[in-house]
Amino acid sequence: MATEQWQHIGSEETLKTKPCNRLHAEDDKRYDLVLVYVRGQFYAMEAWCSHAGGPLFKGDIEDFNGRPHIQCPWHGYLFDAETGKNQLGIKQEMFPTKVENGQVYVQYRCALCTSPFPKS
Ligand code: FES
Repeated sequence: MATEQWQHIGSEETLKTKPCNRLHAEDDKRYDLVLVYVRGQFYAMEAWCSHAGGPLFKGDIEDFNGRPHIQCPWHGYLFDAETGKNQLGIKQEMFPTKVENGQVYVQYRCALCTSPFPKS
């Protein structure tokens, strides 16, 4: 596993205009994340659903048992936006986020961007 570092994502003002942003990973698309903005907080979760690989960045945010969840667009499974846990016992890996001076960062193994990286 590569060493994790704080990766700069972009401005808080821009990123909080959408509840789910896809974060493209520089290393490989299988490492993409979804950046969720809900109730004034950012959460970073693996982008591909651990059930069957659905794109969680195309999901909706739903309230379930009083907590915000991201709903997978493929089969509707709900994942807690803060913990990544699902009621059926599967879990998305989560990564730390922080906001400093109006900029959002995610602690991660490689660079991330809201646009795809150019192919080398
Ligand atoms: Fe996400 Fe099935 S792929 S619920």
